[in-house]
Amino acid sequence: MYEKFYGFSEKPFNTTPDSKFFYPSAKHTEALNSLIYAINEKKGFVVITGEIGAGKTTVCRATLNKLEPNTKVALITNTNLTCKELIAQILEEFEVDYRPGTKQKLLSQLNHYLIRQLAADINLVLIIDEAQNLSSKVLEEVRMLSNLETEKEKLIQIILLGQPQLKAKLQNPKLEQFQQRISVYYHIPGLTKEETKDYIFHRLKLVSSNGVDIFSPKAMDMIYAYSRGIPRLINLVCDSALLSGYVYEISKITEKIIHEVISERDLTLSSATSELRAMSSELIAELYCCSDCQHYLNCETKWLRGTKGEPQLCCPKCQDYQRCIDNVKKVKLN
Ligand SMILES: Nc1ncnc2c1ncn2[C@@H]1O[C@H](COP(=O)(O)OP(=O)(O)O)[C@@H](O)[C@H]1O
Ligand SMILES: [Mg+2]
Repeated sequence: MYEKFYGFSEKPFNTTPDSKFFYPSAKHTEALNSLIYAINEKKGFVVITGEIGAGKTTVCRATLNKLEPNTKVALITNTNLTCKELIAQILEEFEVDYRPGTKQKLLSQLNHYLIRQLAADINLVLIIDEAQNLSSKVLEEVRMLSNLETEKEKLIQIILLGQPQLKAKLQNPKLEQFQQRISVYYHIPGLTKEETKDYIFHRLKLVSSNGVDIFSPKAMDMIYAYSRGIPRLINLVCDSALLSGYVYEISKITEKIIHEVISERDLTLSSATSELRAMSSELIAELYCCSDCQHYLNCETKWLRGTKGEPQLCCPKCQDYQRCIDNVKKVKLN
């Protein structure tokens, strides 16, 4: 809609995991390389976590584009499955012409298929996205799949992608054997402040030859403060801001527009955003609760209560009050 106004060849901030727009941040690149390495070297389980919109599926797509031609991938995205449904889904993803039957029968057909592929020098990979939804029982089944092996090597390389609660789920004592098999565990955090700016430039450069400085530096600071560097949130805010700019016929996106967009967005975050709204834009640019997880907007016990010095946990994720207080001091000095 607004593409013509800004001279873009297409919308720069779509929220689809389009590999063309892949931004190789240090963390995304590391995750990508560990996936390629694990697949090529047939390592044990690989677990990649990151909160919603951090870029797990995007990294996974980028990985698929880089695999050797002799690799076959079964990608499971529906994770509300029973054990038997999971095996059936894997057979379907590998396009195996299988006979329906009990779980054991399906497993045996999968085993035969895997052995035939190995003999034909085909590298098989199972990727389960949104794996935090798998029940402990199904996770245990997945572990057993990794037991399928010949005398020499594993028959299938398994990769799990999921939200941070996947890690907590795997820490269940019942899944100890699973944990022992994890060879690579990788968490994708939000982008840093510098990367957030670079990410915005990167996307703008791909759709226009002259529009890279559309967002003012302060606007980008505010986008970072709001999104905590989570690409999906950056995209949502940037897209709405560009639409507002187009409606107001302003080609420069200032912090005022970002402020407006953030205030209008996401009713679920309304209490946090109204707090943000009440503060000056300079402060907003520096606000986050914890330098590690940068999780201010999801902070259960509010950051402002923390400034009074009461010894409380600031963030349900990192639960590190002291680090939060250090950041509060930083903000106050500004
Ligand atoms: N490294 C990246 N480069 C470019 N765009 C990205 C990147 N990471 C995430 N995105 C954008 O953010 C959106 C959400 O990412 P996604 O991979 O779906 O997150 P997740 O699977 O972790 O929930 C993607 O659709 C994509 O538009
Ligand atoms: Mg995803």
